[in-house]
This record gives sequence, C-alpha cells and structure tokens, in this order.
Amino acid sequence: MKHLSPIFASILLCSFYTIYCQKISVIGTGYVGLVTGACLAYLGHEVICADIDDNKINLLQAGVIPIVEEHLNTIITSNVESKKLAFTTNIPDAIQKSDIVFIAVGTPTKDDGTSDTTALYKVAEIISENLNNYKIICIKSTIPIGTSKKIFDYIKARSKNTQFDLVFNPEFLREGQAVHDFLYPNRIVIGTESLIAQEKMALVYASFIENNIPFLTTDLVSAETIKYACNAFLATKIAYINDISRLCEASGACISMVQQGMMLDERIGKSFLNPGPGFGGSCFPKDCEALIHIGDSFDVDLKIVKSCLASNALHKETIIKKIISALDDDLENKTVTLLGLAFKAGTDDVRCSPAITIIEKLLPSGIKIKVYDPAAMNNMQKIFPTLEYCSSAHEALENSDLTVILTEWPEFKELAFEKIVTKNKSLKIIDTRNILDSRMMRAMGCYYLNAGNAIVN
Ligand code: UGA
Repeated sequence: MKHLSPIFASILLCSFYTIYCQKISVIGTGYVGLVTGACLAYLGHEVICADIDDNKINLLQAGVIPIVEEHLNTIITSNVESKKLAFTTNIPDAIQKSDIVFIAVGTPTKDDGTSDTTALYKVAEIISENLNNYKIICIKSTIPIGTSKKIFDYIKARSKNTQFDLVFNPEFLREGQAVHDFLYPNRIVIGTESLIAQEKMALVYASFIENNIPFLTTDLVSAETIKYACNAFLATKIAYINDISRLCEASGACISMVQQGMMLDERIGKSFLNPGPGFGGSCFPKDCEALIHIGDSFDVDLKIVKSCLASNALHKETIIKKIISALDDDLENKTVTLLGLAFKAGTDDVRCSPAITIIEKLLPSGIKIKVYDPAAMNNMQKIFPTLEYCSSAHEALENSDLTVILTEWPEFKELAFEKIVTKNKSLKIIDTRNILDSRMMRAMGCYYLNAGNAIVN
C-alpha cells in the first residue's frame, strides 16, 4: 500500500497483539464512522459498523464503498474477509455486542448556523436502552461545546443503573487522506472525566502509543474545544493566505515568494498556506459557523473566526469578479469551463465547494457552463442538473472562452495547455490553485491569471 510505510508495518504487527483487541461498535457510517471503523479493525479490534441507512449498509455488505477515500477499499475488504469488520442496520445488537461504542453521526448546520444534534440524541437514546454491561461511549461527531456532558446526563437518566463512561475523542481526518491521517496521527485526544475510560481508550490506541504518538488526556469540555479551535485556526490560516494573495495581485508582489518567506519561519510552518478559491468542505465552513454561535452562547465575541468566514466569502466573490472581467463584463453567448467541482482534490465531496458559489452566481446570466471533475460529477449533478457535464477535461475545454481551474486534481496539471491553446487561441485561463507552470503559461502569451502572481513550475 503506497505511502503507508514504517509505522504502518509496526501497526500491522501490533494488530496481532490480541491483548489489545476490543469489541467496538461504530454508529454512523459516514466518512468519519466508516474510516474509524475500518481502521480500528485494521488495528486488530473487532468492529461492527452500524447505520440506519439500509442502502448504505447493503452496499457495504456487498463490498461497495459508498465514498471516494484512498486505501479505504483495501482496508475494508481485507478486514471483512478476516471477520474483524462487519456491517449492520441492527444498531441495538451492535451496541449490545460491544464494550466501546463510537458515535460518528452527522451534526449538520441548522438554518440559524447552530449544529443539529438530533441524530446524536437519537443514538444516545438507543444506547441507553441497550446498556447490557459496562460500556464506554465515545463521541467522534463534532459537537457544540458542553454537549458531551449533556449526552452523559441524558443516558444516565435513562439507563437503569448500568455503569458507563463517556469519552469525547475528536477526529482530525482530512477527506481524501482520512485513512492515512487515522493511521499516522499527530496526536490522539481523549476527553473524559473517568480514569477507567482513559485506560480503556489507551488500549484502543495502543499501537499509536507504542509508536510514541502523543496521547493527550483532557476533560470533556477541553477536548470538545480542541476540535473547534483546530479547525477554525486552520481555516483562518487559509483565509489569511488568500487575503495576502489578493494583496499580491494588487501590489505586484509574488505570493509564492511570500509563502516561502513565511513558511521558513518555523512558528508559521509550511502547511495550509496555499491560496485557492476559498476553503470549502463539510468541516471548516460549518465548524467556524458553529463556533461563532458557541461563542455567542457564552457571550464571547469570536471576532477572528467571524472575520475568517467574511474573508472566505469575499475571496469567492473576487474569483467571480475575475471570471466576469476575463469575459470583458459580457457573459452573453459565452462559454466558461470549470475544471474541478470537488471542494479539494482526492474526494467526490462538493459540500460548500467554491464551485457551487461560482455556478450559482453565473447561472442566471445565461452563460453556458461546461464542467469536468474526475470524481465529483454525480454529486454536483444532484445540485445543478442542467450544466454541461463533460466526460474529460479535453472535452470540457473545447469551444470554451474561459477555463477556471477550481480543484487541484493532478490530472489538470498534466494537461498539455501548449496544444490546447494552439488549437483554441482565444482561450483564457484562470488557475485559482496555482497548479499550472506559470512561466510556460505566460510565455504562451495567452490570457492567464493565477492566485497572487505566483511563480509555479
Ligand atoms: C478538515 C481538517 O483538515 C481535518 O483535520 C478535520 O478533521 C476535518 O476538517 C474535519 O473536521 O472533519 P477537510 O475538510 O477534509 O479536513 O479538508 P482540508 O484538507 O483541511 O481542506 C479544507 C479546505 O481548505 C479545502 O477547501 C481546501 O482546498 C482548502 N485548503 C487547504 C486551501 O485552500 N489551502 C491549503 O493550503 C489547504
């Protein structure tokens, strides 16, 4: 399995140390639940993944993985074969058969920006009805600060004296690299008020502890806060570099040189400093929004997080202005090609993708929109059925006035733009991800804009 080397091998060895083997159920088979369940089985635990969605479970039982996630297929297949991993819609049975119950259900944003914890409470209710022995209930879902304690009280009030402990164990998995991130964590965070639960969770993650991965134990509220604090910080870092890239465009500075100068300062670091079309996905926008509301509920004005969201919205507006300006402020009878619909490469997820904001803004003008994405076409088609969905980037680029690269898929970097521009001399190009060779693009003399006047080769 590529990219998963030394530690992966030792984890593999560890997986044979059955002393660590725990009976685990994971409720919710979204991308967090599924990756968590599969990777815990890979570590040697006995795992049942449960979900109320018959379709999803039927697919999983038939060996079909419903999400695009590198390495997940291999890990699921091998662990189902070795009977370490099973899928079911029978949630009560999965709970009764396990000693540790992970909850990984969605907490989507409500219209007012707060998180909807209905599914979490529903699972808590089912758990309280099926506490047949001492269990650890471990919440993975991202939840408003203070919710773990409320869930503890909720289950306690309904559980007829059966002992249990509650843990909040935030996930730090990036979509597209979730298996890698699970197996190579920077740290494991365990929030709980119970020493027994701490020890039991140390057994769950024994392979990592043996590999000297920091195992941080905190109280519940601090663990809940760590999750939001990390996501809002990373989102702010991206919003900040996007602000600076716009400044570079206005001042004539070069964002790649500025990035270099920044990242060489170890306090800043090199990750999450790439400008793009604005951050998207199911986590940063939602978690920043939720955190602002959580702050408000404690009467704390989280000004930086508010500015981060405002900056991200402004940045997407700026991309739209660039598109309109590239088309000489006249969209009639024009064709624009969007390369990339997923909110980032490596996933088919289009939730809060900048492509959505751009399409929504351009569609009413009557402009023809051709699109191509190697993974996310089906998901985008559910939102915008009438766009021209092309079967390749080349097809999408034919007879187009302007192409906008929105997602950093490697295959877009490989496109032979010399030939494409020779064929379509009037084609204009906006590279929001700075993936194209900027010297070559500029040398071709075509209309070419990237983020922050970057020099890329
Ligand atoms: C994010 C966090 O990175 C994970 O640690 C966290 O566990 C996850 O949210 C979650 O809360 O579940 P994810 O949303 O999958 O993961 O994606 P990222 O790779 O973090 O990217 C988020 C957005 O930032 C994307 O739109 C991406 O294109 C953008 N981005 C990222 C940039 O524009 N520039 C960068 O340098 C990095």
